[in-house]
Amino acid sequence: MSEEKSQLLLNSTGEAIYGVDLDGECIFANKTCVKMLGYRDEQDLLGRNMHNLIHHSRADGTRYPLEECIIHQAITTGKGIHLDDDVFWIADGSSFSVECSSYPINREGLNIGSVVSFSDITERKNRDRELIESREHMRNLAKRLQEIREEERTLIAREIHDELGQTLTGLKMDLFWLSGRLPKNWKHLPRRAQEMISLIDSTINFVRKLSTELRPSMLDDLGLKAAIEWQVQEFAQRTRCKYRLDLKIRDFSPDSDRDTAIFRILQESLTNIARHAKADYVEISMNEIDSQLLLTIKDNGIGIDKEKINSSSLGLISMRERAGTFGGEFSIRALAEGGSQVTLNIPYSRGIT
Ligand SMILES: Nc1ncnc2c1ncn2[C@@H]1O[C@H](COP(=O)(O)OP(=O)(O)OP(=O)(O)O)[C@@H](O)[C@H]1O
Ligand SMILES: [Mg+2]
Repeated sequence: MSEEKSQLLLNSTGEAIYGVDLDGECIFANKTCVKMLGYRDEQDLLGRNMHNLIHHSRADGTRYPLEECIIHQAITTGKGIHLDDDVFWIADGSSFSVECSSYPINREGLNIGSVVSFSDITERKNRDRELIESREHMRNLAKRLQEIREEERTLIAREIHDELGQTLTGLKMDLFWLSGRLPKNWKHLPRRAQEMISLIDSTINFVRKLSTELRPSMLDDLGLKAAIEWQVQEFAQRTRCKYRLDLKIRDFSPDSDRDTAIFRILQESLTNIARHAKADYVEISMNEIDSQLLLTIKDNGIGIDKEKINSSSLGLISMRERAGTFGGEFSIRALAEGGSQVTLNIPYSRGIT
């Protein structure tokens, strides 16, 4: 190809390209390159040491010595390299993020320098950063929502338990007092009073159950282990599922928010088993391995469909988010032998208990 043609080609590409000799001095630069580096003409670059001109400092502004420069090393050793996140400095003293490649130029089998091409990735980096920030934002929002939900449940559970529970108990005592004073010859009244007392009794039991389901007080009073034991028994009674519960956790310092997350994940997993799995046996185990709490819940049901696993289904998303909030991981999969398994890994640090 004639010199003129290659010049034409070089200058009509949107990619910034320059060439250097083995000392790293510029031997050519196309228009895009000159423009992106903030110069007026190729002449401004020719003969200049490109490292010292555009690559003299790192992204944080500290000096980037030539001897340490990866591009320069590739040039002198005749190797090709690709960097997907670097920084070039331009004529006005500012810098921008680049993705760049450097490949050796061979003339008659001899390495005489390199061609470096680069593109501005500022926009891509900004987009990446925005994406990370927005994910972080969503995660914080999800966490806050869960907290609010938990706070509200606790409040409602307490109100129901204290207000409604106390009132009903008061009512029962009054009725008891009243029934003892009814004239004996009022045939049906004592029996009706007795029936009312039984009705109040079962309502008191219902209120107790409702408030416990909203927020098991044992989670706050007796800790995670007791709450899990209670929840699993409750589940087995409701579904007539057989189960094996193996909680190999020694005393570890309670952490109310993390324990609530673990408990809610167990609760949702059991609800899912009751609703979808058609299982009659469940195995729940909790272990500590290297400062990680490992919870697995295995059922012998129909197994979860592959496409359901990563779907945007709320129950699964919320379990994943809850685990993520504490640096943990949640997953669910179908087992080869049938049924499904939920796995939860959550880091914890052993405190003084
Ligand atoms: N143990 C399981 N066995 C079989 N399928 C399951 C199991 N757990 C979950 N699934 C499937 O995964 C789907 C998603 O579960 P997820 O908890 O997200 O939603 P859901 O239970 O249907 O609704 P909700 O939002 O009320 O929890 C379920 O609809 C069900 O098809
Ligand atoms: Mg569910």
